[in-house]
Amino acid sequence: MARLLITAGPTREPIDAVRYISNRSSGRMGLALAEAGREAGWDVTLLLGPVSVSAPAGMTVHRFETTQDLQALLDAEFAKHDVLIMAAAVADYRAAISREAKLKRDGAGLTLHFEPTPDLLAACAARRRPDQLVIGFALEEPAKLLERATEKLRRKSVDAIVANPLVTMDGDNITATVIDRAGGVHSPGDMSKSEFAAWLIKWIAAQMI
Ligand code: CTP
Repeated sequence: MARLLITAGPTREPIDAVRYISNRSSGRMGLALAEAGREAGWDVTLLLGPVSVSAPAGMTVHRFETTQDLQALLDAEFAKHDVLIMAAAVADYRAAISREAKLKRDGAGLTLHFEPTPDLLAACAARRRPDQLVIGFALEEPAKLLERATEKLRRKSVDAIVANPLVTMDGDNITATVIDRAGGVHSPGDMSKSEFAAWLIKWIAAQMI
């Protein structure tokens, strides 16, 4: 039975005791993939960020908030799995200083300093074993979709990247293109996120034979 590790949802990076920076990821694509993996009879571990929907049954679930939490979970879990699908919308930047107290309004402007977060996907890809597959996601402007996703596939050295136009983030449907390391480009068409999830799990299974 294949062991699938999947990340889903946004990260939240604290600014002070009550505020954070996050993004609009609903986690639905990642959750659909976790369910499709389970339906295919795979052993699924889901690393789930702060989303409003509850985690599906029939899988191991660990929750994260920050990029650092997710990094610690990946460090603990990645080696135990055959496939990693990185569907989480990980923050690219976090506040350089997160204050313990709540920031007070003093009438003046406020400047926040951000530092880059580590690239978790690239780090997993760099340490994967030959028997492990690592798949990333890329959300891009439609005009530059394939060009940028291909660049990301090479830069992060992953086995495949799922390229999505920006509208996917809030939508029910997905028009994704999967690009693999061998240069293969696979476009299953416009479909619901759960249909695409079943398609992708089948595609991944075919790569593992
Ligand atoms: N990702 C990650 N760690 C980060 C940022 C992104 O693991 N710090 C992963 C995402 O989970 C996704 C893939 O990398 O699978 C692409 O994310 P994206 O935000 O599109 O790419 P970036 O590396 O942020 O590149 P850019 O900002 O140039 O689009």
